Amino acid sequence: MKRISDRMEEQLNIQLTKEAEAAQVFLAYGSWAETQGFPGIAEFFYGHEEEEREHMKKIMRYINGRGGESKFPSIPAAPANPENLKDCLNKALKHEIENSKAIDEIVNLAHEEKDWATFNFAQWFVKEQIEEETLVQNLIDKYNLASDEKENNENLYELDKDLATAPQEVKIPREE
Ligand code: FEO
Repeated sequence: MKRISDRMEEQLNIQLTKEAEAAQVFLAYGSWAETQGFPGIAEFFYGHEEEEREHMKKIMRYINGRGGESKFPSIPAAPANPENLKDCLNKALKHEIENSKAIDEIVNLAHEEKDWATFNFAQWFVKEQIEEETLVQNLIDKYNLASDEKENNENLYELDKDLATAPQEVKIPREE
């Protein structure tokens, strides 16, 4: 039996597609970074792409588990290549912030419908988005420290090496 509303099913499917799109964006940024001589940053984005695929599947399983139907429409093409590393990181942050707003739509609808199961499910994503925004913001801070607005200097080489092994998780203050 279906235990989510048609409207919620649609909203969750919209989010499922957004997560697939995010994976596509980060895959493209990883590929771009690889061609620019930043293998560490490429690894970071490839890891992040996998995270987004996991998010997509998490939503798919939730929809299916509530008796709904997951949909897989086409996803938009990857964006144009960034202008440089700074632009790449800024666009990645913007993408995460937009995704956080999309998650809020689910939370708002769940609240409106008193669908507490979905409200509870969506909280995982609220927390995940706080982490992801922080993670990318930390990269921008590191970049700003390393670059001194000069591209391709030695510090960027160190930053790239550093990011090859950077975790995909970040602790948020309220967990500490
Ligand atoms: Fe799955 Fe970065 O949001």
